Amino acid sequence: MTRVTVIGTGYLGLTHAVCMADLGHEVLAIDVDEAKITMAAGGQAPFFEPGLEPLLRKNLDAGTLRFTTSFAEIGDFGEVHFLCVGTPEGASGKADLSFVDAAADALAPHLASPCLIVGKSTVPVGTARRVARRVQAAAPAGAAVEMAWNPEFLREGFAVADSLTPDRIVLGVTSSRGEELMRQVYATALASGIPLLVMDLETAELVKVAANAFLATKISFINSMAEVCEQAGADVMPLAEALGYDTRIGRRFLSPGLGYGGGCLPKDVRAFRATASDLGVDSLVSLLTAVDGINLGRRDRVVELAEDAAGGTLDGKRVAVLGIAFKPNSDDLRESPSLDICDRLAARGAIVSVHDPVAMPNAARKRPGLLCAESVSAAAEGAHVLLHLTEWADYRAIDPAALAKVVAQRVIIDARCCLDADLWSSAGWTVRVLGRPLSVSGRSDGRR
Ligand SMILES: NC(=O)c1ccc[n+]([C@@H]2O[C@H](COP(=O)([O-])OP(=O)(O)OC[C@H]3O[C@@H](n4cnc5c(N)ncnc54)[C@H](O)[C@@H]3O)[C@@H](O)[C@H]2O)c1
Repeated sequence: MTRVTVIGTGYLGLTHAVCMADLGHEVLAIDVDEAKITMAAGGQAPFFEPGLEPLLRKNLDAGTLRFTTSFAEIGDFGEVHFLCVGTPEGASGKADLSFVDAAADALAPHLASPCLIVGKSTVPVGTARRVARRVQAAAPAGAAVEMAWNPEFLREGFAVADSLTPDRIVLGVTSSRGEELMRQVYATALASGIPLLVMDLETAELVKVAANAFLATKISFINSMAEVCEQAGADVMPLAEALGYDTRIGRRFLSPGLGYGGGCLPKDVRAFRATASDLGVDSLVSLLTAVDGINLGRRDRVVELAEDAAGGTLDGKRVAVLGIAFKPNSDDLRESPSLDICDRLAARGAIVSVHDPVAMPNAARKRPGLLCAESVSAAAEGAHVLLHLTEWADYRAIDPAALAKVVAQRVIIDARCCLDADLWSSAGWTVRVLGRPLSVSGRSDGRR
């Protein structure tokens, strides 16, 4: 059992704190946002994440997980301090490291004994060593405060399972003492055979951004193929399936659609591009510029299709949007492609009504003017076009015949390429699917 602190209790930090406690460590977590700490200490997660709240309550009840707003308490308590604060997009796409620096500055004066600070936030290469120097200069324990970097790969929607049983643990360290401490922290995972990859700080920082850049590239690649298919009258779905059977390529992250969003991929791709530019690696700058451009281009295409479906103009037309979260099983609206499309539609004069199974409160807070409907049919009432923008399982269970009765015009654009196009078209809908020709997706004879 190790005394662990977690600094920053957002999507990453709260999940990490809960899972560390569940693995048997004594955990104290801190955030500068008092409201978040009050909620978490009361057993409520400040965001939607399947399976998190029961585990939070279990470990609060067991007394192994506590929350505070005092850095003095954190500094006194921890043998290992996990740094989990945000690193949002800053000026010209660079990562904004002000939260990392502020957390390090707040912690350092309270570090009187040897300890390990472990960064989990996604940061540009070189950050760990810079932060280590900054903390050591201000900490009473000086050089006995060590730095490690342990990038996090969890996916929102699967965050608990990903934290407890990750594919691998990546660890950048500067000493065997640091490595030993981290082996203790992750003893359960290591005993179950999860690989631990130990390396220097810089390489560990780069693994995370390289992984996200690769995943984003894979998504943009298949979306580029979707564009090719639309132009060539081909069908991207069987194309993706056929590519995916090649074990060198693999099926995952090869789903065509509206592209990626959220608090990680978009900002990490842009931050890595900024790093590549600083390092003079122009080939990577070009690659990531293209990846980002293809991703944003999917949104243009959806707006274009909506305009087309609405008869050439969106002005005064009603558009119903299914899904506002950036992905299913999350209420996260950061860089949500759907929210961006809603803004673009509204800018063209459309009356946009949205539905989402869990993200409506966040949507109402973020866009007070947005019409937030309580149900799919309320959103679709009088709609000239229906847009499927987040692939919640609930939307695959919609009865298109029932929904047909409330809309003004039976047109659906499936931007996530996962609805049953035959079912919808046999209920009288015109179905447009990104990357699939109308003759396939909108077929009424049910054949593929
Ligand atoms: N969300 C994910 O799925 C995910 C996955 C892997 C990596 N990451 C990385 O993890 C980091 C955190 O992401 P997130 O999604 O949890 O962000 P978030 O915005 O949800 O959480 C960050 C938290 O840090 C707190 N904070 C800010 N400054 C602080 C300070 N000085 N002291 C204490 N707390 C402070 C904020 O109040 C907030 O609660 C980012 O670098 C992100 O790229 C996120």
